[in-house]
Amino acid sequence: MSEKFKINGVNQLKGEVTVSGAKNAVLKHMAAAILASGVSKIYNVPELTDVCIMRQVLEGLGAKTELNTTEKSVTIDATDITNIVAKYEYVSKMRASFNVLGALVARCKEAIVALPGGCAIGERRVDFHIRGLEALGAKIKIENGYVHAKASKLVGADIYLDIPSVGATENLMLAAVTAQGSTTIQNAAQEPEIVDLANFLNTMGADVQGAGTSEIVINGVKQETLRPIEFTTIPDRIEAGTYMAAIVATRGKGIIRNIYPNHLTFFTSKLIKMGANVNLIEPTAIKVSCNRKLNALNIVTQPYPGFPTDLQAIAMALLTSADGISIITESLYENRFMHVSELAKMGAQIHQERNNALITGVKKLQGANLKATDLRAGAALVIAALSAEGLSIVENVYHIDRGYEHFENKLKSLGADITRFDDETDTFSVVPQKGGINESRI
Ligand code: EPU
Repeated sequence: MSEKFKINGVNQLKGEVTVSGAKNAVLKHMAAAILASGVSKIYNVPELTDVCIMRQVLEGLGAKTELNTTEKSVTIDATDITNIVAKYEYVSKMRASFNVLGALVARCKEAIVALPGGCAIGERRVDFHIRGLEALGAKIKIENGYVHAKASKLVGADIYLDIPSVGATENLMLAAVTAQGSTTIQNAAQEPEIVDLANFLNTMGADVQGAGTSEIVINGVKQETLRPIEFTTIPDRIEAGTYMAAIVATRGKGIIRNIYPNHLTFFTSKLIKMGANVNLIEPTAIKVSCNRKLNALNIVTQPYPGFPTDLQAIAMALLTSADGISIITESLYENRFMHVSELAKMGAQIHQERNNALITGVKKLQGANLKATDLRAGAALVIAALSAEGLSIVENVYHIDRGYEHFENKLKSLGADITRFDDETDTFSVVPQKGGINESRI
């Protein structure tokens, strides 16, 4: 089945949307839940393909999981962890599966986890994860595409990360929770999802200090100290930023609820510099509007609290019709510009050289047949299509389903003209016609 979105552009978005729980936090909480025997329950869980994959990974380890879509919760019974292997078929589909490595070594003293390999956006190595585990005393072998980690006991260590890697910081936090003595992670990632994981672990009975700064100290506790918990995940800042951008792109007006505005300070400041209005109306709700041509500006992606790489494609979609020349520099991934050639199909003028994209704003984008190449690029194309003249078709919607809960329904609640269709039963494409771009059934 190959699902696509059919989008008619230029509707000004108006209305309200509520942000779901953070994908990149929930997945790590799910991994953390196996540290303690018993039943943990996580709330504010989005209904996403990635959450399903993590459930499969945990079930493969012997845990029992249950998703309650009404309650937006996932229950994880980690009483029996009977298997230490996370298979390639899961880890290759979703890199976050690699986070069970730290938790498994801590709980079972041994883990065999497939190497995730690269992906569409870059090489995405795991050397910091491995070096950090070795520093904690694990013996690591790489065999047949799997990391085999073994440790009769883990001992606290001082670990310095060359880059503040989110995944490595999380994996090492998970491993160090029950290590003997103290572990210090220097140049640690500072993302809100790291803070949420530290809160999750501390609620379980761990002793993690300094999360949200560049130095995290984990004072090891006894395995028996850890208990299963109930925990509510933070809102998804990238999803929130995506809806903010969709409203700005269509020169609309809307309210975004269940948002922690201070998680989006950098992104919001860039939107305001572009010419958007962003106002706090409640502690967890903002009003976004824009009724003017956007200003061009420059963006460099950085680890948190800098401009998030996960909103880079989305920012580019906005800047394609800004007044003047913008430059976007992607400093985290080698290959996160796959949306450039898709945006060019819509008339965008973008010159890419290595990790820099020079964007000359055009008057208006035009609808086109588009292909999502990864999750955030897919969301960016939808935003571009919403602001474009005429019809667009966005293929490979499965990428978007990995990270955006009920994406088209939420956009519809803002007044977007977007429909999901199944290519096998209902085929559309965009063809230029006299008098403008139009839709044709083929
Ligand atoms: N890196 C290494 N060696 C390592 C680890 C990372 O060289 O051992 C490099 C990576 O290759 C990359 C950079 O460091 O170039 C940053 O990677 P990081 O480890 O910080 O990223 P991640 O943990 O793999 C998470 C998010 C990504 C988000 C990045 C950066 C999850 C599941 N994924 O990935 O989210 O882009 O942090 O903020 O938490 C997304 O949601 O679309 C997404 C890709």
